[in-house]
Amino acid sequence: MASVTSLTAHVHQRLADALSAALPAADADVDPLLRRSDRADFQANGILALAKKAKANPRELASGVVERVVTGDVIKDIEVSGPGFLNITITDKAIVENLAQRATDPVARLGVPFAENPGTTVIDYAQPNVAKEMHVGHLRSAVIGDSVVKILEFVGETVVRRHHIGDWGTQFGMLIQYLIEHPHELDHEESEVSGEEAMSNLNRLYKASRTLFDADEAFKTRARRRVVDLQAGDPETLALWQKFVDESKIYFFSVFDKLDMEIQDPDIVGESGYNDMLDETCRLLEESGVAVRSEGALCVFFDDIKGPDGNPVPLIVKKSDGGYGYAATDLSAIRDRVFNLKANTLLYVVDARQSLHFRMVFETARRAGWLNGDTKAVQLAFGTVLGKDGRPFKTREGETVRLVDLLDEAIERASAVVREKAQDLSEQEIAERGAQVGIGAVKYADLSTSASRDYKFDLDQMVSLNGDTSVYLQYAYARIQSILRKAGSTEPAAHPELELADAERALGLHIDRFAETLAEAAAEYAPHKLTAYLYQLASLYTSFYDKCPVLKADTPAQVENRLFLCDITAKTLHQGMALLGIRTPERL
Ligand code: ARG
Repeated sequence: MASVTSLTAHVHQRLADALSAALPAADADVDPLLRRSDRADFQANGILALAKKAKANPRELASGVVERVVTGDVIKDIEVSGPGFLNITITDKAIVENLAQRATDPVARLGVPFAENPGTTVIDYAQPNVAKEMHVGHLRSAVIGDSVVKILEFVGETVVRRHHIGDWGTQFGMLIQYLIEHPHELDHEESEVSGEEAMSNLNRLYKASRTLFDADEAFKTRARRRVVDLQAGDPETLALWQKFVDESKIYFFSVFDKLDMEIQDPDIVGESGYNDMLDETCRLLEESGVAVRSEGALCVFFDDIKGPDGNPVPLIVKKSDGGYGYAATDLSAIRDRVFNLKANTLLYVVDARQSLHFRMVFETARRAGWLNGDTKAVQLAFGTVLGKDGRPFKTREGETVRLVDLLDEAIERASAVVREKAQDLSEQEIAERGAQVGIGAVKYADLSTSASRDYKFDLDQMVSLNGDTSVYLQYAYARIQSILRKAGSTEPAAHPELELADAERALGLHIDRFAETLAEAAAEYAPHKLTAYLYQLASLYTSFYDKCPVLKADTPAQVENRLFLCDITAKTLHQGMALLGIRTPERL
């Protein structure tokens, strides 16, 4: 079913048509460069450049466009300004009519079209490490990744999720050997332990085995031999390794659950998942000459990547002892994602501190021909989470902050805010809303700065009711729902025949920009464009509500039309927040 396109898209098309007609020699798609404007509703800035290219007079070309544009129904006014800009004003009727169509659109696309040429994106995000506590860095990958997945899917992209967990490596030798010598330590029914207990079991084993490893030479030797057994695929060793993975998953899922995030087990394909490919990956790289032997290791060199001493820093795909590292796994994962999963885009939501690794891995894959013009690889590199003091976030004792503690604190703070404002909420509702507001606050703070930037983790600011926070947006949504309840009106009808006040037009035109915003957010993997849009939506709604009485408007038709504007604002807020992974409770 074709969905309703935005008014902006419609106006754009009309101008593009008029422009092509006025400039018959031009290429097929001429872009009028339509932008929202303070002087009129829109300004078209594209004529100057087009005229220059066609060696035409820009003002004459602009007048030619004006003559060809039909006015009256959608476009109220169009006039030439300055050296060849066009100022365009839209009729009130067109604004309301377009919004009315989206209110009744059965597929609820809110004016957002599906991408014309969608592809397949494999996105690598939410990748914690087995037998280790999750920290704030894992939070960012999960939160940003989850939102990007939702935005891409909404515009029609096929998305394959990959959680590249750290489930392989030498540390497992120590853990497994310890478990062999202290059996039954992880024996229990999966349903018996909570995430918290699972993590504490793993911590206990980790500490105990570490102590033994450091103190006892014989154990150290046995642990090292165990790594070889693991890599060789010895069944007993693998079975014990699996116990650690399973125990960790209990913990991961409890954290993702707290984060209100759906992670599917089949999408968890950790480093170990590429084991069978490692040999071949190395062979292909060596045979093609992309990788060379250097001091016993298999390496790839880059002209522009050098260490502080001026010597080249290679990517090591196979160590001199024959072991494979992080790079071999990532290179194998690329082959899997390109050739088996048929990805057009590989997206990695990973800490900016791993940027050099990905630069080298992508370049290696390009040289090997695994990445080419048809497939692009992008690291959506995110910055560091800082404490209030502007330094990397640590506990007072200087330790990394446990993600779970942080989330619990956010929920606690949010519950206090909810409780204070709550009028008719039960204790259970306060707890439920507290979680939705607290987790929303954490996600929103993360998503509302561009991913590449560091941001300060400041809970006071995050749960503030004033300002650019999720709580502010959640309250805006809940307030609208309360008005609609009070009016007893579920699907208020639009009245396109009415004249609009300035605040109504501003709100309506902003709602119309939802499609453009999402197109940008999807193309640039930039959820912060969506948060900025939603914040402005709530602000414009607030000024509309201040200036235009809703339930006490002059006529019943106006009451209904304003209720309609409230409703479509709420629907847009709700959808936008959902794409950020944030709930919008009906009552707060
Ligand atoms: N597990 C890694 C970490 O905690 C992140 C994995 C990123 N993804 C990848 N394909 N290398 O730092």
